[in-house]
Amino acid sequence: MRSLLLLGLLASWGNAQNSTFYNPIFPGFFPDPSCIYVPERDNTFFCASSSFNAFPGIPIHASKDLQNWKLISHVLNRKDQLPRLAETNRSTSGIWAPTLRFKDDTFWLVTTLVDDDRPQADFSRWDNIIFKGKDPYNSSSWSKATHFNLTGYDPEPFWDVDGKVYINAAHAWQVGPYIEQAEVDLDTGVVGEWRTIWNGTGGLAPEGPHIYHKDGWYYLLAAEGGTGVDHMVTMARSKSVSGPFESYENNPVLSNANTTSLFQTVGHSDMFQDGNGNWWAVALSTRSGPEYINYPMGRETVMTPVSWPEGGWPVFTPISGKVSGWPMPAETLDIKGEGQFVNHETDEILTFSSNTSLPSHFTHWRYPVSESFTVSPPEKPNTLRLTPSNLNLTALNGNYAGPTGQTFISRRQQDTLFTFAVDLDFSPTTLEEEAGITAFLTQNHHLDMGIVLLPRNASTVSSFLPRGTPDNSTSSVSELIPQIRFRGESYVPVPKPIIAPVPIGWRGKKLTLEIKASNRTHHSFSVGPADARSQMQTLLYTSNDPVSWGFTGVLLGIYATSNGKNGTTPAYFDNWRYLPQGQFRD
Ligand SMILES: *[C@@H]1O[C@H](CO)[C@@H](O)[C@H](O)[C@H]1NC(C)=O
Ligand SMILES: *[C@@H]1O[C@H](CO)[C@@H](O)[C@H](O)[C@H]1NC(C)=O
Ligand SMILES: *[C@@H]1O[C@H](CO)[C@@H](O)[C@H](O)[C@H]1NC(C)=O
Ligand SMILES: *[C@@H]1O[C@H](CO)[C@@H](O)[C@H](O)[C@H]1NC(C)=O
Ligand SMILES: *[C@@H]1O[C@H](CO)[C@@H](O)[C@H](O)[C@H]1NC(C)=O
Ligand SMILES: *[C@@H]1O[C@H](CO)[C@@H](O)[C@H](O)[C@H]1NC(C)=O
Ligand SMILES: *[C@@H]1O[C@H](CO)[C@@H](O)[C@H](O)[C@H]1NC(C)=O
Ligand SMILES: *[C@@H]1O[C@H](CO)[C@@H](O)[C@H](O)[C@H]1NC(C)=O
Ligand SMILES: *[C@@H]1O[C@H](CO)[C@@H](O)[C@H](O)[C@H]1NC(C)=O
Ligand SMILES: *[C@@H]1O[C@H](CO)[C@@H](O)[C@H](O)[C@H]1NC(C)=O
Ligand SMILES: *[C@@H]1O[C@H](CO)[C@@H](O)[C@H](O)[C@H]1NC(C)=O
Ligand SMILES: *[C@@H]1O[C@H](CO)[C@@H](O)[C@H](O)[C@H]1NC(C)=O
Repeated sequence: MRSLLLLGLLASWGNAQNSTFYNPIFPGFFPDPSCIYVPERDNTFFCASSSFNAFPGIPIHASKDLQNWKLISHVLNRKDQLPRLAETNRSTSGIWAPTLRFKDDTFWLVTTLVDDDRPQADFSRWDNIIFKGKDPYNSSSWSKATHFNLTGYDPEPFWDVDGKVYINAAHAWQVGPYIEQAEVDLDTGVVGEWRTIWNGTGGLAPEGPHIYHKDGWYYLLAAEGGTGVDHMVTMARSKSVSGPFESYENNPVLSNANTTSLFQTVGHSDMFQDGNGNWWAVALSTRSGPEYINYPMGRETVMTPVSWPEGGWPVFTPISGKVSGWPMPAETLDIKGEGQFVNHETDEILTFSSNTSLPSHFTHWRYPVSESFTVSPPEKPNTLRLTPSNLNLTALNGNYAGPTGQTFISRRQQDTLFTFAVDLDFSPTTLEEEAGITAFLTQNHHLDMGIVLLPRNASTVSSFLPRGTPDNSTSSVSELIPQIRFRGESYVPVPKPIIAPVPIGWRGKKLTLEIKASNRTHHSFSVGPADARSQMQTLLYTSNDPVSWGFTGVLLGIYATSNGKNGTTPAYFDNWRYLPQGQFRD
């Protein structure tokens, strides 16, 4: 009996097939991954991502099979945890690379709230913080931030075998660059003296340090080269936690620099060991190709197997769209938590009945004014009511938005090809009142199409809508009429604004607004009456280059604003659709 069972076990072990899986594992704006395997919590893998000014922030995904990943909570989910997110200046600010670890039955999340307009050497630029929680499936269980003193970023906690606890971090690059370390009390945030432990291999900005203790060595992994096409993962090791660290002679251990792969900018990695003892790595990557021009989904999360022989250096499989790796646990969708499976390409079709709560992957830019978002208001049930913010999506010079915020709600673009559409019921009554749809990357990078009240002579085209009756009357140039307006904002050239009168026959009707990516490089913006799909007209095709930049990824969403004027007319949205239509992986 016993030997039969043993034979059976041996057979199943021997039969375990290497897996095939697809990158990115988290498509869309999910940079700087940090992942762990926690046998004590039902053999589950957990990953954290950075979120910049997006709120809720620091998404946590979980999986039991390394194949199906579910959004289970957001570490940053209440303003009282970290009020300063409301005041960040610049779109490169906010939450930078977190590290997630599990120790003493507690999940620890250490990260930095960066205020990127302050001087590099200024303490107020780098608000380094520790969150902890016992139940990662429950957003409310994440603590408030505990602050600690460091003029740097990318901190990680590390528990040594002697019980001492350290923070490893990247020092601010203009006064570095180097990786530094200090002892820390994670409950109080009190840190000891910082000391340099590694200068990296000479690449730009050594950052994202992670130490792994294995076979009597402390292996230090870091990212170098900056987060663009020169990005890479490098390693060093030491017999002591504090160095001296000796660089590996075959660095980088992982990079797609100087390749023609669609997957570029590979770096900022973290490693973890599964239940069979096999190693894996996650990293960030942009699906930009070496041209590095069109990558609206920004920095996504990719995964790859790692072979790590005893006493030797780890060997990473290069990142590609289809990867063969270690055997994976049996597939299961049995995961608790609030959100969607991040890599399931399912149609999202939402109506806003009174019993609807907005899905947990819905995202604002900094903290929302919650009264500006009402599901199924009494005057128009089964819609989502947005009341306008005074500031538009650019807000104050593209940097700051002040306490009144921006009325904006969105979800990530997660597919190369997609259609995103909403129906809008909006009758503006005041000059510059606007409600619409956007592909938003940052306050300085967004492409918007809205319905806005403007003087008749503001139109740039009179009859772009051949099937609608154009309003080309010249009788009163200053009469305020609803117009369809496209505007773009970016550091690179954007199409000129297009302003066209809402055709007479469409006025007072619910309109469908749609953004569609039917290829890798271009988004189209279309509009038409919600009850007559055949009348949909495409206003323009635009390259997505203007929303391919920097640290974040495109959020597809809706907005309402008075554009600095005094309008207060609400906009009513319904029939929210996000339809995945294709994923490019090579
Ligand atoms: C935001 O930063 C810009 C420059 O980066 C500066 O001009 C502006 O005063 C700052 N605003 C606030 C509110 O800090
Ligand atoms: C979630 O955590 C909060 C705060 O700890 C707690 O009050 C609440 O009961 C928890 N909810 C669930 C469903 O466990
Ligand atoms: C952080 O360090 C700076 C400079 O050493 C010091 O002025 C400041 O008081 C420290 N803050 C805390 C909270 O320890
Ligand atoms: C890093 O570089 C600095 C400046 O060259 C040097 O003083 C320091 O000793 C180096 N530190 C380490 C740990 O290599
Ligand atoms: C890419 O090529 C450049 C130029 O030859 C070289 O300096 C750099 O080290 C290469 N990067 C990697 C990661 O191989
Ligand atoms: C299985 O995957 C691992 C990790 O990539 C690799 O080292 C090993 O050679 C693969 N085995 C087979 C039989 O392909
Ligand atoms: C929500 O309300 C709609 C009608 O308004 C109803 O069709 C649906 O079954 C309700 N869903 C739940 C989960 O109660
Ligand atoms: C529209 O007409 C008004 C009144 O004649 C004029 O002041 C304004 O400059 C015109 N605007 C445009 C864009 O032509
Ligand atoms: C307005 O458009 C109609 C055709 O739809 C055309 O007959 C008319 O001449 C136009 N009027 C002006 C002032 O352009
Ligand atoms: C994508 O579509 C646009 C608009 O039709 C076209 O100009 C562009 O060349 C296309 N790009 C690719 C890569 O096919
Ligand atoms: C945003 O609003 C300001 C006024 O508050 C206005 O000057 C600017 O043109 C608007 N721009 C965009 C792209 O929304
Ligand atoms: C908006 O402000 C202007 C002056 O700035 C004023 O003339 C107008 O009456 C105001 N409109 C509303 C609806 O309050």
